[in-house]
Amino acid sequence: MSFGKDFIWGLATSAGQVEGGAAEDGRGPSIWDVFASKPGKIHNGTTPAVACNSYHRFERDVENLKFVGVDSYRMSISWSRVMPEGSGALNEKGVDYYKRCFDSLLRAGIKPNVTLYHWDLPQALEEKNGWVDRDVIGRFAEYADKMFRLFGDVVPLWSTVNEPIATYVGYGNGGFAPGRCNEKEGNQARHNILVAHGAAVDAFRASGASGDIGIVIDIWKRHAIRDTEEDRALVLDQDERNWKFYTDPVLGGSYSDYILSHLASEGTLMDIRPGDLELMHRPIDYYGLNVYNRVPVSVDRQAELDFSQGGNFLNNRTEYYPKAVYDAIKLVHDLYGLKIPVIVTENGTYGIGEEPRGEDGLIADTDRIKYVSGFLEWLGKAIDDGYDVRGYYLWSLMDNFEWTAGFNFKFGIFETDFQTLETRPKKSAYWYRDFIRKAKGK
Ligand code: BGC
Repeated sequence: MSFGKDFIWGLATSAGQVEGGAAEDGRGPSIWDVFASKPGKIHNGTTPAVACNSYHRFERDVENLKFVGVDSYRMSISWSRVMPEGSGALNEKGVDYYKRCFDSLLRAGIKPNVTLYHWDLPQALEEKNGWVDRDVIGRFAEYADKMFRLFGDVVPLWSTVNEPIATYVGYGNGGFAPGRCNEKEGNQARHNILVAHGAAVDAFRASGASGDIGIVIDIWKRHAIRDTEEDRALVLDQDERNWKFYTDPVLGGSYSDYILSHLASEGTLMDIRPGDLELMHRPIDYYGLNVYNRVPVSVDRQAELDFSQGGNFLNNRTEYYPKAVYDAIKLVHDLYGLKIPVIVTENGTYGIGEEPRGEDGLIADTDRIKYVSGFLEWLGKAIDDGYDVRGYYLWSLMDNFEWTAGFNFKFGIFETDFQTLETRPKKSAYWYRDFIRKAKGK
């Protein structure tokens, strides 16, 4: 496998999933704090109020990153920690926290890769109609501008938004915070966040920050289970409504005719203003790909059921299909003639509930090791085939608040004891450490 010496090996988390300290030092609530406080939204009624408490234990996280020997840590800034109202005055204590985080990473030789928006809109902005109101675009640009001016000289890698589809899930079908369920508003929200992304890229260029900026879009490619016209049509429809809704305008410069005509005929087309498409398509320095799996679909429920009971599955009942990473990289090149590098910004898998331990007492997460090594093999093939891929971030550094699954889905290569807040490497942490050493020829 050919990962060059400059290839970035990383681990990832996000503020809303690990920080805790939800009401400390002037932080304002985010939409996830409010959503999680409503009965029935999160598994077991848990909340992100404490989570892994990285707000007080960032040094523990840095020690773990050093243990694995990664080059970079992908983390996000909590908008409502640095700007409790989502706009206007900065919260100095919040800003200090990130200053300490970045200093500490840099001291350890680990490059911060910072996401501005990982799903945690300040509740104060939600009260002004959140991502549905175009005013949020200016607010996001204002927040981004402040972060670039504060940290543009120390953070080498930025992304504006993580997985814009989460806004659609939050406003269009109610599955995520803020839990609103209106198709047309969902489409407006996801359009606005892409425009906001472009406005933040403009702010980045204007700030004179020296690093690189991109956006993170997840690809879950649909595959037809049966070779029939109906299944192929379903694949087309789901690809269009899911990942292509974002990659088309950002990487390709326009929404597809398919999405525009379907949303128009369904009466849910968003308001697209002059200049929006240009903003969404602002040149970026890299494309951040989150890739977890493919999604086999069929209009025939029985065919779907038979497929999901078929052979190649992990213990958590997700399919083991590591070629998904190769497919996604090839796809964006085929569709858009991509000229910028790709960074895999997330990839990983989860155990449900307690993961089994080996005799040595460590969590023996053999499925995770199998999954990640399979993906890395296919990533290596993509590089060998000439695709420009610059880095890989495993999700996640540690077990954390997995959104609606609460603390029940465990993605970490470190286990987190949510009582004591101690962490401990799983077998996969040793495995990833050794893999990186070998890839670097150490
Ligand atoms: C998100 C993460 C999440 C992970 C695992 C990604 O969609 O960016 O926040 O924890 O998937 O579900």
